[in-house]
Amino acid sequence: MKILGNEEDPRIYRFTTAGSEAPAHFCVINDTHVKWEPFGLAINKIATLAPQCVIWNGDTSNVEETIEAQTRIFLKPEIERADYAAETPYLFCPGNHDSRGMANRHLEKVWMYRQPEERASRDWDLGRNFAVRMGEVALIGLDTAEDKLDTNPLFAGLFNSAAYREAQVTWLNDALQRPEIASAPYLVAFCHIPLFESNPRYNPGDVAPADKDPQYTHDFAMWQRTCAQLWCPLLEKAGCQLIITAHQHQYRYDAPTQERCWAQIIGGGPEMGFSGSGENRRERPELFPTVIEGRVVNGKLLVQIHNLVSGKVQDSFEFTRR
Ligand SMILES: [Fe+2]
Ligand SMILES: [Fe+2]
Repeated sequence: MKILGNEEDPRIYRFTTAGSEAPAHFCVINDTHVKWEPFGLAINKIATLAPQCVIWNGDTSNVEETIEAQTRIFLKPEIERADYAAETPYLFCPGNHDSRGMANRHLEKVWMYRQPEERASRDWDLGRNFAVRMGEVALIGLDTAEDKLDTNPLFAGLFNSAAYREAQVTWLNDALQRPEIASAPYLVAFCHIPLFESNPRYNPGDVAPADKDPQYTHDFAMWQRTCAQLWCPLLEKAGCQLIITAHQHQYRYDAPTQERCWAQIIGGGPEMGFSGSGENRRERPELFPTVIEGRVVNGKLLVQIHNLVSGKVQDSFEFTRR
């Protein structure tokens, strides 16, 4: 007997979650902002690279008010490959836009939180943090939260990012000591807002009470000094080699220094080689979306930056074991 509307879908999709036996091979996308052209290009690139998992490093959204809008972003995107996350697990680090709008206040209805069983009861509210072993690499997911202070009148008291960032310190401390994380030769962390900045004109996100200071180019965090002060000592003690961030919409590599053992890679934004539109359109070849690919080859972590406008590898970096 057939009950109309309940036919079994003949397509079967399957994937295996990561683990110490999995090949160490990940990809990162970020700042997709519901822009279908760059998102489609990123998903096509990922399909050819075939990683074990993808990290979606925030600003998936803009301001989403309905579950329908979220469904369109995460479950039925308007791109060629509708099977985009069907056979590759996706990990999520939220961006500042991912908590904006009525529906995004409860994004877990569409993109579920991680299972509470995987962390101590103290950390049950930290549903977005992850510490996952994948072959020789340990992947750490952190949430930098909003890009304005809780006291900024624009937010009308809606957010409590300060306490949330602090709560992640004890979680991170414990996660780094888990045997499968501590024993991984490579430690790579992910979060949306950068944790290092050399441009003194870029707002560090701690300008009370309303993020305004004429010495800075923007009235919001271009990087997150508070998160850097909270989390980086722990990551440095653990020998973290690389932190992959996003948010600035321009690809950049910050090499490690004497004082900072980790490199930072900032993924590109959704702009396809130009900014503005109509009369304001300007060529901006430095603006291109990226897929950041990391894989362990002959015992070394090789990270390649795929430029989605040129279709070429923009940069390659090699990291050694911690
Ligand atoms: Fe963004
Ligand atoms: Fe952002």
